[in-house]
Amino acid sequence: MGETKPLLRALSGEAVWPPPMWLMRQAGRYLPEYRAVREQAGGFIALCTTPAMAAEVTIQPVRRFGMDGAILFSDILMVPWAMGQPLRFAEGEGPVLEPLRDAAGIAALEVGAIRERAAPIFETVRQTRAIIEAQFPKTALIGFAGSPFTVACYMVEGHGSKDFHTARGMAFEDPALFGKLIRALVESTTEYLLAQAEAGAEALMLFDSWAGMLPPSQFRRWVIEPTATIVRSLKRLHPSIPVIGFPRLAGPMLGEYVARTGVNTVAMDTAMDPKFAASVVPAHVGLQGNLDPLALIAGGPALEAETRQILAAMRGRPFVFNLGHGIEKITPVEHVAQLVRLVRAGG
Ligand code: CP3
Repeated sequence: MGETKPLLRALSGEAVWPPPMWLMRQAGRYLPEYRAVREQAGGFIALCTTPAMAAEVTIQPVRRFGMDGAILFSDILMVPWAMGQPLRFAEGEGPVLEPLRDAAGIAALEVGAIRERAAPIFETVRQTRAIIEAQFPKTALIGFAGSPFTVACYMVEGHGSKDFHTARGMAFEDPALFGKLIRALVESTTEYLLAQAEAGAEALMLFDSWAGMLPPSQFRRWVIEPTATIVRSLKRLHPSIPVIGFPRLAGPMLGEYVARTGVNTVAMDTAMDPKFAASVVPAHVGLQGNLDPLALIAGGPALEAETRQILAAMRGRPFVFNLGHGIEKITPVEHVAQLVRLVRAGG
């Protein structure tokens, strides 16, 4: 039987119209039903590691808006957490990790522990997939991980940053050491994604939020190569599972990223011109994106104009409508409903 879920068809290279849609960070604080579960869970990590709650918040945007994709509720930093690096999410401060700065710290990472430590996350995938098949059979479940470079940025720096100076400095000053960290992340991220596929994830996404900070030589070494290695391993065991890459702010490196990593679909960030992307990405590779989350906050005619422009540029291609970065917590819920109506009308 041919694939009937619109998202999976588009991710595999079919020009489905109107395009399937979902939104990055679609489960989150802009939704009152999310805030209720989040409060009940106590902490963010508790929410990510309590399968029934994590499955519930994964489903919430599908229930409310009928999204074509449900993205596993977790975080890219759950991989370092599962490798034994202390992590907390401080209220109003974002993630805080114990910074990793030397060979001893990197050697102490428990690369082989991921399947055991992240078991609750794989259980969330199983429970979510069961709910989807019973109640939302047209929706596809997306598993994800951070890409090694972006995750390494947080692991070395210890917190969010505008420029990740320490991490990028280490990559230049001690490439052998930074390479060890990247290799450990390639290994554990591959296992982490394979386990999600085995538990029922139907597509996999790699978030490389900070890829665009790197000059081309570093981009090839720390973004393209590790991503290509992960994609190759995933495809060996799950040849038909679509993989989405998100090399945020890759700009002119986009074409090379797609050609050399083997991703099935590439997610465009807010700054990417969809027409440029279409000109450097082969027609069988899907594009995803890239509405500015601020246009979604604005709503009304601004939202309508931006959405129509993206749709017009993408018509006739395999395409998945999405934002160019995560949804903001001040986004009015009604604007998301307006966006869904616009995209469903096909432009
Ligand atoms: O998209 C989804 O709905 C699925 C879940 C998801 C989260 N984070 C939940 C989350 C996904 C796919 C992510 C990815 C993620 N996490 C990225 C890559 C994408 C991007 O935004 O660039 C990054 C860099 C992170 C790291 C991270 N996690 C940061 C910087 C923060 C703090 C920002 C904030 O809004 O507070 C988080 C926390 C986080 N991850 C929240 C959510 C819903 C907010 C925490 C809360 O609800 O208390």
